[in-house]
Amino acid sequence: MSSRPLAGIILAAGKGTRMVSDLPKCLHPVCGEPMIQHVIKALNGAGFEQKVVVVGHGAETVVEAVGEQVSYVHQEVLDGTGGAVRVALDSLASFDGDVLVLAGDAPLLTSEVLESVLKTHVDSGSDLTMATFRIDDPTGYGRIVRDQSGEVVGIVEHADASPEQLAIDEVNPSVYIFRSDALRKIVPQLPSPAGRKEIYITDAVSVALGDGMTVKAVCFEDPTSFMGVNSQWDLAMVGEIMRKRVLKRLAESGVVIIDPSSTHIGSEVRIDPGVVVQPMTVIEGWTEIGSESIVGPNTWIKDSKIGKGCRVFMSHVDSAVMDDRSRCGPFANLRPDARLSEDVKIGNFVEVKNSTIGPKSAVSHLAYIGDSEVGYGSNIGAGTITCNYDGFAKNRTVIGNNVFVGSNSTLIAPVEIADGALIAAGSVITVNVGENDMAIGRAKQENRVGWATSWRKRRQTKT
Ligand code: UD1
Ligand code: MG
Repeated sequence: MSSRPLAGIILAAGKGTRMVSDLPKCLHPVCGEPMIQHVIKALNGAGFEQKVVVVGHGAETVVEAVGEQVSYVHQEVLDGTGGAVRVALDSLASFDGDVLVLAGDAPLLTSEVLESVLKTHVDSGSDLTMATFRIDDPTGYGRIVRDQSGEVVGIVEHADASPEQLAIDEVNPSVYIFRSDALRKIVPQLPSPAGRKEIYITDAVSVALGDGMTVKAVCFEDPTSFMGVNSQWDLAMVGEIMRKRVLKRLAESGVVIIDPSSTHIGSEVRIDPGVVVQPMTVIEGWTEIGSESIVGPNTWIKDSKIGKGCRVFMSHVDSAVMDDRSRCGPFANLRPDARLSEDVKIGNFVEVKNSTIGPKSAVSHLAYIGDSEVGYGSNIGAGTITCNYDGFAKNRTVIGNNVFVGSNSTLIAPVEIADGALIAAGSVITVNVGENDMAIGRAKQENRVGWATSWRKRRQTKT
């Protein structure tokens, strides 16, 4: 569309005082990703390859979280959005093209909106093109002031607005595209009136017009893409809209979402068509779920890879892998680096951590498998515990193929149980068990004939 080079400046240095939080505002998550990451994605989608983020408050934290996908400039003194643009512009000294300026606290912005503003900018040949939108409650936003012929003449901040201006429902979303040469002329002229601590980029409109430049405003009727986040409540409202967007996209691609109102799915999660997501389910991070799987209800899955035809029923799955047709739950806890191979069954109240369970093996009830390796076709009985921790180090348990571990066995690691071995129920296993051997490690049972009757008699004669 535009043959001129594109650069984006994202303003993210502000303190975010109204969030009442130590976390820099732009890092507050929306659908599992920092707000600013959504803004960066919108820029990428609209073809803005060069991106400069203005950091200030919590700069180190922001740089660490956002990484090398953008470049950074530091706004040493937080003197407002105009000051932030000035610092960024210094880093674009040799840039000649169109510069998008936007705030890092509007995560619902889409590439389509940016493309539309850019198109108007290019088609009209304006020096400055800005987006505006209408909103029922304009509280807090800068108001768009137009003259009698409907041309934009300026932006007035909420705090500075007259009662008539406060009634204006067309507001500023902080999405501006400048010709770089125009921006270079405007920024030094941004006013800093007495009694005001900050320089406002919003004043760019009146400065540009005063300098004989052309300004264009594109008004969007739907406010949802522009909602800015200044408070925790704003964050919740924006999160709700983003959550529905993610669910709608998934549903349109063929995922079955039974109850959208209680389903939370992160924006990076990938789910194949036909997967059923049952109510009260949270799926986060980079989780992937293969076709014909059913997850939920009451399930939480994070950063995990779930294969095809799997069943995750009322369970926690964190940083784990479930291969095709494996099952877990109800009340299973798959912790980091748990790997269930194909056709594995993990049942109720079973915890698996940093362990691989081989194909067709089952751990069906009330067990803890930690730092272990289990082969194929093995059955781990109810109540089995791998004692992996001796108070100092984590030790491994290796269980072979087709092993049968009887219920309530305690396997004290490091220990190995070879293929085909059988562990008698209730054993405490401290020594390796050989192939096809049977190990029994429990106190020998003693039966005393009639003992109970005589004991009762003794008790009765006492009283
Ligand atoms: C700003 C606009 C307002 C608009 C609203 C849209 C100004 C003066 N006002 O108000 O017209 O309706 O956004 O959401 O621009 N920032 C810096 N350095 C600073 C100050 C702020 O980088 O010194 C960054 C913030 O981190 C934030 C963005 O600029 O990402 C906007 O700042 P914020 O304080 O949220 O401004 P608003 O009051 O929302
Ligand atoms: Mg804001």
